[in-house]
Amino acid sequence: MKEKINEIKKELSIIFENIKDNTELNNLKVEYLGKNGKITELSKSMKDIANEEKKEIGILINEIREEFNNKYNAMLERINEYNLNKKLESESIDITLPEERIKSGSKHPLMRTKEELEDLFISMGFDIYDGPEIESDEVCFQKLNIPKGHPARDMQDSFYITEEYLLRTQTSTGQVRTMEANIDKGPLRIICPGKTYRRDDDATHSHQFMQMEGLVIDENVSLANLKWTLEQFSKKILGESTKVRFRPSYFPFTEPSVEVDVTCFKCKGKGCPLCKQTGWIEVLGAGMVHPNVLEMCGYDSKKYQGFAFGPGLDRFTMFKYAIPDIRTLYQNDIRFLSEFDRKDSE
Ligand code: PHE
Repeated sequence: MKEKINEIKKELSIIFENIKDNTELNNLKVEYLGKNGKITELSKSMKDIANEEKKEIGILINEIREEFNNKYNAMLERINEYNLNKKLESESIDITLPEERIKSGSKHPLMRTKEELEDLFISMGFDIYDGPEIESDEVCFQKLNIPKGHPARDMQDSFYITEEYLLRTQTSTGQVRTMEANIDKGPLRIICPGKTYRRDDDATHSHQFMQMEGLVIDENVSLANLKWTLEQFSKKILGESTKVRFRPSYFPFTEPSVEVDVTCFKCKGKGCPLCKQTGWIEVLGAGMVHPNVLEMCGYDSKKYQGFAFGPGLDRFTMFKYAIPDIRTLYQNDIRFLSEFDRKDSE
């Protein structure tokens, strides 16, 4: 028995040396401490040992079991540490490696103009309304005081989808929709930026373009309020020195109607080829909301007045960034679009 114990003791001094991983270590445990393991067998044979030897042999077996366990635990720790180090090594990041360049997109110039104006109008207490692009003839024309057969329909060559529905030709639809939706028929202050569509296609007209309707309804509202508002608007986009002037015009849904000019931002009003030597550039249509429109949308036109304006955002964007052809705004050429990141930071 003692011999057997000594033999195992000898084995213990070498067997751990060649262990490479957890599986081998586990096999070793089974070999020595498993159900039929070598040390387990020793314990089992205790019953055959003479009583006077039992104590001594028992101590020896316990010692050898303890020795195995100590060696086993030490080895386990070493293997775990080794594995952890290997894992950390494989996951380590070499911070000295040069980065891979990530190409970031850039904001479309039209969106820049739109967001800039939205910020301005929000700061003046306006709400933003976003109406549908497919619109009924009723909202796009009839409720804006343009009945069927009215010659003013020729001003806007439209894309009809059915007899009754078309792609909206103007964001003035936002006037009708917000007035109708306003249940208490009281004051309103909204802008309605969005896409609009007409059958046009040349350097200054695109079949898709962008407008931003503005509408203010309240008591005692006048053209002077309109002028002040448009001045803020133009200064924000084209610069602080910009001045605004009104010329009489005609829109069926406003009375009086005005065509709005701003001082040429290129020559500052002195006269240049861009403004055809006049010093002024036409930028938008506007006017006082026609009483018929107020009434058709449920408002009391004796109590309330309103003003409305409808700038083309494409036009402002073209001015601001000196873009000669409106169609480039809709071609989504990455090289063209990425130009504007640079321009804005200049
Ligand atoms: N909707 C008009 C257009 O597209 C512009 C406009 C808006 C005119 C609001 C007056 C008032 O031409």
